[in-house]
Amino acid sequence: MTERDGWARLGKLHTSTHVLNTPCLLPVINPNIRTVEPRELWERYGFEALITNSYVIWKHDKLKSKALEDGVHALLDYPGVIMTDSGTFQNYVYGDVEVGIEEIVSFQRDIGVDIATMLDVFGTPDMTKEEVKEAVRETIARAGVSIDAAEGTLLNGPIQGGVHADLRTQSAVGMAEYGFGVHPIGGIVPLMERQRYRELVEIILACREHIPWNRPVHIFGCGHPHLFPICVALGADLFDSAAYALFARDDRMLMPWGTVKLGDLAEFPIATEALAGQTPASVMALADDARCELLARHNLEVTASELARCRQAIRDGTIWKLVEERSHTNAALREATEYLYEHMPAGLVSATNPLRDGGVRTSQDLPTTPPSVAALGRLLTSYVSGAKQAILVSGASGPWRDKIGGLVHTIARRWPDAEVFIETPMGLLPYSLEDVSPWTHLMGPKSIWSSLSEEDIEFDLEAMLAGVEKTVRISIDNGKQMNLELIESALGSGVNREVERVELDRKMIADKVRYFLDVDEPTSEELISNSTFVYSKTHRVRNVHASDGEHLLSPRMRDGGLSLTLEGARRLHGTAIPTVVVNEDSVPFTRKGRNVMHGFIVEVKGELTPGLPCLVEDLNGEFIGHGVSLCTADEVACFTKGIAIKIRDGIGD
Ligand code: GUN
Repeated sequence: MTERDGWARLGKLHTSTHVLNTPCLLPVINPNIRTVEPRELWERYGFEALITNSYVIWKHDKLKSKALEDGVHALLDYPGVIMTDSGTFQNYVYGDVEVGIEEIVSFQRDIGVDIATMLDVFGTPDMTKEEVKEAVRETIARAGVSIDAAEGTLLNGPIQGGVHADLRTQSAVGMAEYGFGVHPIGGIVPLMERQRYRELVEIILACREHIPWNRPVHIFGCGHPHLFPICVALGADLFDSAAYALFARDDRMLMPWGTVKLGDLAEFPIATEALAGQTPASVMALADDARCELLARHNLEVTASELARCRQAIRDGTIWKLVEERSHTNAALREATEYLYEHMPAGLVSATNPLRDGGVRTSQDLPTTPPSVAALGRLLTSYVSGAKQAILVSGASGPWRDKIGGLVHTIARRWPDAEVFIETPMGLLPYSLEDVSPWTHLMGPKSIWSSLSEEDIEFDLEAMLAGVEKTVRISIDNGKQMNLELIESALGSGVNREVERVELDRKMIADKVRYFLDVDEPTSEELISNSTFVYSKTHRVRNVHASDGEHLLSPRMRDGGLSLTLEGARRLHGTAIPTVVVNEDSVPFTRKGRNVMHGFIVEVKGELTPGLPCLVEDLNGEFIGHGVSLCTADEVACFTKGIAIKIRDGIGD
């Protein structure tokens, strides 16, 4: 895994000869009818992998003998990764598959495929639950002999279970016990043909967390591009598409937003290489074969570019924005997306970095998507205040320091029992976290800055200020003087005491320390009591120093996060801050400041959150370094390759 956003991830799948970048699409090639030549898929379109059917090859004598003699790569004239299916699907469609369980796996191995598939039992939506249960049981029963027959060739271990969540979970748990290389989620084609997308989401949710995180997940037979974003966000790594060719046969064009009939178009609403120089009328006028080929090429291009869009969205931290956008293209997909928002797995939220680098566009569903849920969860568990009065400021986007920093200082001087909150479309934000992403990066029209309902406000205040007695609502638009008058009329004239700016800054840092580092109030207080600050030209805290002058940490301007120094990390060691324990082999590397690799962590203390700080200790409990986690504790338990903790600094030799 190289980059991630929650469960969405960019990965590298190592086969014996290739490294496949995921998420990735495998075009389906029928060895008998090649709509687009495999060589062209590789050279012209850059597909790194394809899928074909070993059962079809096995059944046709000519194909079979050439494949056994020259290998499947020569048979198809394709140098990339070749995955083969096993005949399960043919059995589902035609019901006459007579190949043996071990025989079909051995055959795939013998013709040199990169990823083979065992002969699983297809569970359909219209089978009884008992029948599906039997399909799950029989598939698991075949796993061991199939793995043995593969003799080291990477093998697909499909998850079955029909539309029954409990059977899907059972299937995933059972199949995970065996040494499969990839886990396809199978038996979903009949659902997708009828756009039963909510059930697809339910199925993925029922099995995803039970599939070992180091194994790629393939959505078998999912080739419609508008489904890619939601599947990728749920942790899917591989897709295959026969749709590009099947749809082309009846003049249907795939688009990122759905399917369009060629005959309904007066002009093309999209530009692809295949359509260059054409009009719908000119394509209509082509002979059947030529038209089918042209549309298949178009469909392939659209499918590939939608997956590229998903990969880029993972890098940009915008996969949920893409999920939301695509959800509005189709009523069934919208239903599925809303279902997902309502049933967001806790594990997906805790795998999500709450920080975002750039702008976050608001939409109706912003507070229900994982980065927001993760941020809100942190806020509600870390925020501590004994304030009796709440002053709610509405009316403008952040960062708010320039807009109301002076007012907040005046409030602190005159009303010591009051706490200032900012009204945001994600709920109330304590002023002390005013520059923290995603709140500070929210973009949208002015109206979103005073859009909370009375119930929302009451809920948030209750969660953050158990004993609030009075609230005052003001707007940035009023100006400082008028707002002070409003506060005075609600809370009385207040007192007149000296409050140094540094005290406000100290509260801000203490709140951030708890928010980002998972520590409790006494710990955050102790860390920064009597601290001093170095300020930037714009009067923001740049560095936090302990009373003895040691540099402890620095707030980041970019996203409002905190960067610990070695000394800051050392002083937090032994608190609730997430910490990994590494084995002896890793110690000298961590001490030197080298990254902690998967496979060297023996224990995780606290909850690791991708993108947030964590400490490293050795087996004796000695602090040896600190960095940023790239993974969750569940991933630590199964990954054997790649960077687990990006180290910022080690304690040296
Ligand atoms: N192709 C589409 N769905 C399936 C499935 O469930 N199993 C196998 N082996 N191939 C498929």
